[in-house]
Amino acid sequence: MSGGRVPVTLITGAAGEIGQALLHRLAEGGGHPVVTVDLRPLSTADPERPHREHFQGDILDSALWDGLLRRYRPTLILHLAAILSTRAESVPVLAHRVNADGAARLLAMAADLATPDDPIRFVFPSSIAVYGLPSQQAKDAAAPVREDEHLDPATLYGAQKLYVERLGAAVERLTDGLDFRAVRLPGLISSDTLPQGGTSDWAPELIHAAARGEPYSCFVNPEARLPFCAMPDAVEGVLRLAFREKASLTRTAYNLGGHSLSAAEIIARVARDFPDLEVRFQLDRVRDRIVAGWPAAVDDTAARRDFGLASEHDQETLFSRYLMPGIRRRYQG
Ligand code: NAD
Ligand code: SER
Repeated sequence: MSGGRVPVTLITGAAGEIGQALLHRLAEGGGHPVVTVDLRPLSTADPERPHREHFQGDILDSALWDGLLRRYRPTLILHLAAILSTRAESVPVLAHRVNADGAARLLAMAADLATPDDPIRFVFPSSIAVYGLPSQQAKDAAAPVREDEHLDPATLYGAQKLYVERLGAAVERLTDGLDFRAVRLPGLISSDTLPQGGTSDWAPELIHAAARGEPYSCFVNPEARLPFCAMPDAVEGVLRLAFREKASLTRTAYNLGGHSLSAAEIIARVARDFPDLEVRFQLDRVRDRIVAGWPAAVDDTAARRDFGLASEHDQETLFSRYLMPGIRRRYQG
């Protein structure tokens, strides 16, 4: 107990894709109980989870935080709540409030609570959206992008992610006891859940559509290429970073690597398992342009060196050992 309040791990955006996967993973280990916040209810109540309480509400609502902090003291904050890239472009004011103001408020709250004796660790999932390649030619010619290159985001979402990374680093410098770190995630593919409002959504959407036996209308061109990572590998990466001692870390923000795959390559691989897969290309110019500015591959040397990031899946086992069996189970029993 700390000042009568229960020490907890706090996860915002816990009802989202990564949040659900993180909660399952945290249930496997010990550690503090978990308190969650999301606009939505949590979809399942797993009695095995070390879960204390879910606060359904808006991260911008100060009454929610007053209630939460009366009873709990976060020692680790995993701040996932956000509006993803495609949706952010269509609701710019709301996206700014949630992605930038929401994170800034939560950082200020953490800075108020943190002391050298009772430190707080703040982990932020950033994104490949912080990068901006000026043209398709530049993207095709680029080597896997390192953390300090091409930091010229072309989307609101990317700009907001980069802002929060930098704000977090600045607040950390000013606050004894606050420890901020960020991991830039590639596109994620889960066999259990589907994304909403992201730009990399075509890959998981088409794989899930194939398993359901439904045609898929792909909103990017066949050559559109991004790095993709299996959800369990991403969660493992986030947790490795979260639990690493500060002395081992040499940066504030780390790339988490992924397999560089084009839409055509994903379709060809999925068709091996689901030969009836039917894909039509119906380009969404906004989303296609966003993908053209994001890197095809990122360099994750720093993460491998500093927190031992090691993906469990290579490009083939991502499909053969993780995605295909999980997706078949989900849709075909
Ligand atoms: P998601 O959309 O599935 O989950 C986000 C959650 O945040 C949702 O459950 C939503 O209800 C919640 N939320 C949104 N606004 C809120 C608010 N005002 N108050 C409370 N809750 C709110 O997204 P995800 O894929 O789980 O992503 C989690 C984090 O990881 C986000 O910060 C995202 O930017 C980042 N990220 C995701 C990917 C990816 O491919 N999924 C890649 C890079 C970074
Ligand atoms: N995968 C995410 C999106 O497409 C990137 O952060 O929005």
